[in-house]
Amino acid sequence: MNALAGKVALITGASSGIGRATAVLFAQHGAALVLTGRRQKELNALLAELSALGARAAALAGDVADEAHARAAVRLAVENFGGLDIAVNNAGTLGEPQPTPDVPLEAWRRTLDTNLTGAFLGAKHQLPAMLRRGGGSVIFTSSFVGYRVGLPNMAAYAASKAGLIGLTQALAGEFGGRGIRVNALLPGGTDTPMGRAAADSAEARAWVEGLHALKRLARPEEIAQSALFLASDASSFTTGAALLADGGASISRS
Ligand SMILES: NC(=O)c1ccc[n+]([C@@H]2O[C@H](COP(=O)([O-])OP(=O)(O)OC[C@H]3O[C@@H](n4cnc5c(N)ncnc54)[C@H](OP(=O)(O)O)[C@@H]3O)[C@@H](O)[C@H]2O)c1
Repeated sequence: MNALAGKVALITGASSGIGRATAVLFAQHGAALVLTGRRQKELNALLAELSALGARAAALAGDVADEAHARAAVRLAVENFGGLDIAVNNAGTLGEPQPTPDVPLEAWRRTLDTNLTGAFLGAKHQLPAMLRRGGGSVIFTSSFVGYRVGLPNMAAYAASKAGLIGLTQALAGEFGGRGIRVNALLPGGTDTPMGRAAADSAEARAWVEGLHALKRLARPEEIAQSALFLASDASSFTTGAALLADGGASISRS
């Protein structure tokens, strides 16, 4: 349990779900953590839990689509822990699922701003800090939606998540020669507040579970294990990848 000993990791969207589970797992593996999300109360509760584990962690509340926030989060890692080695750009929103002809332009933009522009802004400020350390690992939380699975009423979400795969490939090519690996993590349906909002009735949940070969949703802790793989030296020759942790949703036809 020391795959990240001596490492400093920044996790966005740590106040809930997959980001929160990733924070706990990374702390158990020895990382010092900078944690972000908009809800200060939830971040404080996580800090208390991590402190009980003996982990070093700091939190900063803010919106990922705000460049000043992205810059400040990296500065917090440098000032508190001496630098930055790992970034999990995980914050995301489902947006406002509805038939595409009904999607207001502003709703489309809000989803893209959070899921895609927010990830870009994170990386923009994380990469220079990692270069100063001589390398690092950047992870973007994409999705099975928009990759091999097309679902109705999710145009903005799917486009934003597909965009993250292009961003991953561009940055992996741009920074691979300087020791920084960049990968996308593609969870399947996961039992988090977002996953439960997307499947908000017993019938909808059964339908979503049925999309997966494993016939269930993931626990956020299972997705965190894939993030740990991409963050750690266990994936030292993996870059530019779209790593599916989707319970077989992409190969399932039943
Ligand atoms: N659950 C699934 O089925 C599933 C499947 C595939 C991919 N994903 C992806 O996994 C990631 C994590 O989602 P989750 O399932 O863990 O959902 P979640 O429990 O709803 O967590 C979403 C996180 O993102 C943060 N966030 C949302 N908008 C933000 C903003 N504008 N600025 C800063 N932080 C923001 C939230 O924090 P605050 O509310 O405190 O701001 C929260 O910590 C997302 O990118 C999601 O698209 C989820």
